[in-house]
Amino acid sequence: MIDKNKKGSVIWESPSNIALVKYWGKRGIQIPCNPSVSMTLKNAVTKMQLDYYPIQKGNQLNFEFEGKSQPIFEKRISNFLDGLIEDFPFINDFGFSISSENTFPHSTGIASSASAMSALALCLCSMQEEVYGQKLETEEFNRKASYIARLGSGSASRSIYGAYAVWGESSAFSKSSNDYAVPFAKYLHPIFDSYQDMILLVSSEKKKVSSTAGHQLMKNHPYANARFAQANTNFEKTLGVLRSGDLENFVELVENEALSLHGLMMNSNPSFTLLKPNTLEAIERIREYRRMTKIPLCFTLDAGPNIHLLFPKSDFDNVSSFVKTELSELLEDGKYLLDEKGEGPRKL
Ligand code: DP6
Repeated sequence: MIDKNKKGSVIWESPSNIALVKYWGKRGIQIPCNPSVSMTLKNAVTKMQLDYYPIQKGNQLNFEFEGKSQPIFEKRISNFLDGLIEDFPFINDFGFSISSENTFPHSTGIASSASAMSALALCLCSMQEEVYGQKLETEEFNRKASYIARLGSGSASRSIYGAYAVWGESSAFSKSSNDYAVPFAKYLHPIFDSYQDMILLVSSEKKKVSSTAGHQLMKNHPYANARFAQANTNFEKTLGVLRSGDLENFVELVENEALSLHGLMMNSNPSFTLLKPNTLEAIERIREYRRMTKIPLCFTLDAGPNIHLLFPKSDFDNVSSFVKTELSELLEDGKYLLDEKGEGPRKL
């Protein structure tokens, strides 16, 4: 039974993630056109507090980001909540006050929608438990949170799980689903246990295309079918590599995914070039460094110019000095952020 007079507060901290195989193109209600797999980050997190209180009739929402009211986000969340009435039938009986903050700066190449939407989904699932006075099993809780997060932002579905997560149906992973992400934990090769992600800030300019608009570019894209076939193959191979620890293939697959994403944006209509000259120069230097040293560092990119450098923890000192001496001159104010594989969201 629902307690409509309940008042409460829940707080979750939820991370961003970086896709190794990219979700690019969707259909229907947030259904991905291909499976994706990502590494969950540790340091880049959204901390969200959701306070709820009884009201006569919905919808009442107050949203603050880093202490300031944010009407645009507030509207987006309000629309999102309106769409969740079937999943959370209690939603119109409560007013909401939500405050959110990120541990990472804006426009740095870290997907803030992944951390924010996963945090919101987790808060709503915890609220459901409180107003019904009934706890869900962990697996069921996570599945629902991932499903709700996906409706907010596809990549957010993967942030519900630590380590590595898979979203999108594939015969290569029997538990996979288009509706929610699932953890990829079993049989992970130990080399990926402490994988590093150094995020290089090439430019903090506002994005020219939102990822939501970007996904639309795949509709009627001349290479759409070839892309979805490629993504399926890369997905299957990447899962194999995550099990075997074959870093040579890992490097090849991850870079191929990043550049395919940008290739698709460049030859879509309208076309977008989100890479900056310094992104390309950094890519050249990363490849040359790898060729010379045999250190298996590789890069990946989201829909923007900033670079995620991925490498095993044992190479940290070497990669750090390479970044300082050879890459920092290409970066905005020489800036980069350190991150690594994380353990997933935390309820506070
Ligand atoms: C390039 O998850 O941000 O980062 O579902 O429209 O919110 P929406 O898109 P979003 O797209 C992410 C695209 C990507 C690749 C990825 O994370 O898989």
